[in-house]
Amino acid sequence: MPPDPILSATAIEAVLAAGRIQLARFERGIRIDKKGRIDLVTEVDLEVERMVRALVAERFPGHRVLAEEFRASGDDTRGGYCWILDPLDGTTNYAHGLSCFCSTLALEIDGRLELGAVYDPVRRELFTAERGQGARLNGQPLRVSRVETLIDAMLVTGFPYDVHETLDDLVGLFSAFLERAQAVRRLGSAALDLCYVAAGRMDGFWEKRLKPWDVAAGALIIEEAGGRVSGVDGACFDCRAGHILGTNGRLHEEMLAVIALHNLSRSPMRTD
Ligand code: IPD
Ligand code: CA
Ligand code: CA
Repeated sequence: MPPDPILSATAIEAVLAAGRIQLARFERGIRIDKKGRIDLVTEVDLEVERMVRALVAERFPGHRVLAEEFRASGDDTRGGYCWILDPLDGTTNYAHGLSCFCSTLALEIDGRLELGAVYDPVRRELFTAERGQGARLNGQPLRVSRVETLIDAMLVTGFPYDVHETLDDLVGLFSAFLERAQAVRRLGSAALDLCYVAAGRMDGFWEKRLKPWDVAAGALIIEEAGGRVSGVDGACFDCRAGHILGTNGRLHEEMLAVIALHNLSRSPMRTD
């Protein structure tokens, strides 16, 4: 049974409101702090998360929120209704005045992703999906590309904030795809990367050491646009597994084979 329409309306309302906050403060000298050596957090990340948490608490007092900035114990629980939020995906871009960022919100019910909404306020692009109902961009149906081989494919990836510690692996895999694909991009927002695969602008996306809020909504949007998502090891997609391969479906096996070959060249049996 499709989820109650109030749930999808709330997801859309939340990301549109997030976009208004993001745009109003973009390039306006906001406060930027560091959570790690290269991991930034702005006052906008915090403000958006507070706003969405308040909206969910007011409308659905029994629901949980799993989000990036104010995490709580019990966040890993999978039962019941859980909203998975990244209040600002693309924080480094945002902090530098680069207009590639979004907010992303998914709803998981009893461990299964049912809804996703991603909003890019600069381009006014709202990507949405409901399980079994297809994916949309500003209300229009979305479809993945029909590209069949890597040499015709535009790929996209990202690097985690501990990139300095695992440089050889990340650059090695990047190089393996660069060698085989038409092009490889790094845009700085995993949620938009996934939506661009769903929209057929990109043909495949992989990334390691992501968090549930980076991928939950975008993964459902790809699936509902006719694409395929899994772990980088080919396992069933799990937004808490920390890694993802999202493709138009046709490229999936070829991309998995490149990853497997890369892993073999490092040391057998590694998927991290
Ligand atoms: C980051 C972005 C980036 C990806 C990083 C994420 P944030 O999220 O999605 O594209 O490469 O791994 O952590 O910090 O901007 O929300
Ligand atoms: Ca993120
Ligand atoms: Ca974020």
